[in-house]
Amino acid sequence: MRLDGKVAIITGAAAGIGRATALRFAQEGASVVVTDINRDGASEAAAAITAAGGRAVALCHDVSSESQWTEVAGAAVEAFGTVDVLFNNAGIFVLKPLADTTLGEWERLMSINVTSVFLGMKHVMPLMAHAGKGSVINASSVAGLVGSARSTMYSASKGAVRAMTKGAAMEYAARGVRVNSIHPGLVDTAMADYASGTTGRSKQALGQAACPMGRLGTVGDVSSLVLFLASDESSYMNGAELVLDGGFTAA
Ligand SMILES: NC(=O)c1ccc[n+]([C@@H]2O[C@H](COP(=O)([O-])OP(=O)(O)OC[C@H]3O[C@@H](n4cnc5c(N)ncnc54)[C@H](O)[C@@H]3O)[C@@H](O)[C@H]2O)c1
Repeated sequence: MRLDGKVAIITGAAAGIGRATALRFAQEGASVVVTDINRDGASEAAAAITAAGGRAVALCHDVSSESQWTEVAGAAVEAFGTVDVLFNNAGIFVLKPLADTTLGEWERLMSINVTSVFLGMKHVMPLMAHAGKGSVINASSVAGLVGSARSTMYSASKGAVRAMTKGAAMEYAARGVRVNSIHPGLVDTAMADYASGTTGRSKQALGQAACPMGRLGTVGDVSSLVLFLASDESSYMNGAELVLDGGFTAA
């Protein structure tokens, strides 16, 4: 019970990394606010948690909407009394040549991948600071550290998440709130399916290309790291960028 008594908000928790982390947090004793723009998926994830004996509520939530962030923060406090952990996980992935990318596509991706993290931190960190404790985990990517072709827009968004994490960490450190970013390599979710479909390469081939270990990451690999950052085991980690990519960026 590494999160016993803690309350966590996880965005984009209807699928992939967010869903796996929500279930893992609940197994470790957390009460989980499962949010996603996919209402049915969020409800299903929360139902899976409660069926296993955990505590969860589901909220339909577009992370790019400030009014919805206000509602989510309020609903979390109403349901469980406080917020100890925020996992800013929701995001989208677009692979596209730079010159073919429209301004509308750029603005949409930035609002879902970057504005979301700004709004989440803006509305939840003051609650944490009031309580004198909290841990925020922001989903960046290896794309926030290194470049790759057709990924300029996505890299820009994840680089912004990396830098925002450090700024917020400095601003809130003295108030007991920690903020760290995670930087996964290619993980086997719908995003890997999309990468496979877009590039015409099998997921196995992508895993071999993207990682010296020769495989894609799993949602379990990522949820283990997020669990560590959410728990008090990481109490001296702040403003850090945690890479989990099987060695991809070590080369
Ligand atoms: N899968 C990877 O290879 C990989 C690698 C590095 C980083 N990441 C990052 O990890 C995070 C999760 O990725 P994933 O692979 O689990 O993706 P996924 O596509 O499996 O799940 C993303 C979830 O976010 C939700 N979502 C999309 N737009 C939203 C919005 N506007 N508001 C609220 N929810 C929204 C979707 O409905 C979905 O449930 C993302 O930020 C992604 O950029 C993923």
